[in-house]
Amino acid sequence: MNREDFLMFENNPDIIYFDNGATTFKPKKVIHKIGDYYTKYTANAHRGDYDISLKVDTEYENTREVVKNFINAKDISEIIFTKGTTDSMNMIVFGFMKYYLKKGDEVLITKSEHASNVLPWFELEKKLGIIVKFIPLTEDFKVTLDNIKKVVTPNTKIISLAHITNVIGDIRPIKEIGEYAHDNNMLLVVDGAQSVPHLKTDVQDLNIDFLAFSAHKMLGPTGVGVLYGKKDLLEVMQPLTFGGGMNSFFESTKDLEYKELPLRLEAGTQNIAGVLGLKEAILYLEEIGMDKIHNYEIELRNYLIKRLKEVNNITVYNENSESGIVIFNINDIFAEDTSRYLNHYNICVRAGNHCTKMVKDEIKVKNTCRISLYLYNTKDEIDKLIEVLKNSKNIYDIIL
Ligand code: ALA
Repeated sequence: MNREDFLMFENNPDIIYFDNGATTFKPKKVIHKIGDYYTKYTANAHRGDYDISLKVDTEYENTREVVKNFINAKDISEIIFTKGTTDSMNMIVFGFMKYYLKKGDEVLITKSEHASNVLPWFELEKKLGIIVKFIPLTEDFKVTLDNIKKVVTPNTKIISLAHITNVIGDIRPIKEIGEYAHDNNMLLVVDGAQSVPHLKTDVQDLNIDFLAFSAHKMLGPTGVGVLYGKKDLLEVMQPLTFGGGMNSFFESTKDLEYKELPLRLEAGTQNIAGVLGLKEAILYLEEIGMDKIHNYEIELRNYLIKRLKEVNNITVYNENSESGIVIFNINDIFAEDTSRYLNHYNICVRAGNHCTKMVKDEIKVKNTCRISLYLYNTKDEIDKLIEVLKNSKNIYDIIL
């Protein structure tokens, strides 16, 4: 749907872009918004008293309101602009958890998590002596509450999970997990990088304590993302960066005061163009409707799985997942070679471990090709892919 809104298709008429889990194309509205900021009202935010600066303040803070409504946060002070999901996750772990947790406390993740929901925890384990434990997955690599209960002990304090994982593409039962976590005095951290762009996300309904997501995977610009946290938790989060914009005053006596939320956690000049672009991306998604987007992606996914089954020499590893992410290999062919072969036909997929290096322990294969769908993909594109895959006998003639 809406392909005419994306200049990438105008400029690359033959491209088939199936790597939306990595990043997405940007609609004209987002690009124009960023262009307008740089050509019509460039100024810093929260620092000037002249017209264009005040316009920037209004646009920037209005974005916070738009994000708040998009994820149904209670208050605008719960929305912090960051560089992206990784940055948000690091703020959660090193700005909050480092002070909240103590040696011996347990954090539950899975082997299916992206590096940004693994490595900060591993670092905290080294520094603080917390224990990172893995929730066992089901046969089709999913998280269930029963499996979570198997590894919970009185020391379990945190459950930290992607809502949708970036390789398996399974949708976790976050609401059920949230209820259980809070009944048992745990906090729930959600990596929303692959879910917020595709699924209506209501942080109050899901009872999420912290949520991280990026603009560039939801039609917005790179280099900007969001940290959501419940207000009482963010109130005690320590800034990881200190400087302009986050302080009320400081003196040569070393007397100082930091600002209230959210600015206390946004030191330095922010990615203003990015923030404004994010607003436009959210308005664009909302205009289409998140339910419509999700349903369309599921329709495409089902069609893709059905058609992949027609190809003899293919293994699909996540047939039973519920999102637009499908991983496969052509049997006995390296994933990267398949990706280069598809590239010959202008088909873009991601190949490798997808920054999720422990998932190989679960799916028993190190590298896969990943198709990640979005609203502008079509069944015609899937048909083209299947045609190319069916002719893959000559793959090495083409890529060598
Ligand atoms: N995290 C991104 C992906 O899954 C880059 O491709």
